[in-house]
Amino acid sequence: MIILGIETSCDETAAALYRGDAESGAIIAESIASQIATHARFGGVVPEVASREHLAALPAMVDQLLDAANIDWPAIDHLAVTAGPGLMGALLVGTSFARAAGAVHQIPVVPIHHMEGHLLAPGLSDRLPPFPFITLLVSGGHTQLVLVQSIGDYTIIGQTLDDAAGECFDKSARLLGLPYPGGPEIAKLAIGGDAGRFKLPRPMLNKDNLHFSFSGLKTAVMYAIKGVGGIEAMDQTMRQDMAAAIELAVCEVLAKKSLRACRQHHAPHLIIAGGVAANATLRQLLTQSSREAGVTLHLPQPQHCTDNAAMIAYAAAQRLAAGFTAPTEWDATPRWPLDAINTQTAS
Ligand code: KG4
Ligand code: ZN
Repeated sequence: MIILGIETSCDETAAALYRGDAESGAIIAESIASQIATHARFGGVVPEVASREHLAALPAMVDQLLDAANIDWPAIDHLAVTAGPGLMGALLVGTSFARAAGAVHQIPVVPIHHMEGHLLAPGLSDRLPPFPFITLLVSGGHTQLVLVQSIGDYTIIGQTLDDAAGECFDKSARLLGLPYPGGPEIAKLAIGGDAGRFKLPRPMLNKDNLHFSFSGLKTAVMYAIKGVGGIEAMDQTMRQDMAAAIELAVCEVLAKKSLRACRQHHAPHLIIAGGVAANATLRQLLTQSSREAGVTLHLPQPQHCTDNAAMIAYAAAQRLAAGFTAPTEWDATPRWPLDAINTQTAS
């Protein structure tokens, strides 16, 4: 079975070809065009600009991908496209393209929830762990702990009450004068920094629940910067130390709450996914602490943590194998809670 995956929910245009089934398969070709350089000067993603860039990039990208893989449309069994959540205009580019290609070439289209794509991404390089497992989903818009009982059975057992972890990185980076997206910039600046120089809070860690709150941390960063006389008064070492302190505060909270979730739900396997899961400090912290806790950690490759189409094609392979079929009626859905897809039933 060959699946062509398409992703246009935010600021990456991506397409990927997956060959195989749920048990074994591989990405045979993939392509990603990042719009980061276009949006960076605005300090964040501009929705209208994102839609136009997707429109300019996607058709040629798919043609080139098929050429490179030496695959023609009739060989494709399913199209998989991100149907939400995301920016409405951006989603419409990918979903309209998929619908049109599906109609012309008589290929069924499987709409995929973007976060389900992230959640299953470690299966691209490894096998998925046995159910049940816990996934920490950490992206620019989401910070959630999800109990996964089977494909399509997702229970949100913890989530942020305000900002997402990625958003905290992005906002803190802006306070430090760093460009968008802030996560990788903070990670770069933090290398060699002394995380102990600035004392930042570990929000919600002492509360015995699985929720997060990151907006207070961003405010603490703002006061810490003010406390040393503002960004202009900070030399390079001080900026490095601040970046290291921010990174460690976010990562420690994420790591401890994830392992608490595994303990509380007796789940011996943990997946981390989403853009923030590319963070090396988070990966290191969790590798060590999960070993100590007897939990097996599953990490997607860094390029499959941030937005990509390989995870969308792979999620479709998993859904089809689990008995879900391509629905006849569906729409692009900008706001779409992950657990809402549990109501879809497998045939
Ligand atoms: O999953 P993603 O690519 O897009 C969304 O679906 O949101 O996640 C983007 C987020 C941004 O907030 C970005 O700053 C963060 O992931 N991010 C990172 C790293 N790479 C991306 N945060 C920390 N460390 C990184 N290496
Ligand atoms: Zn994403």
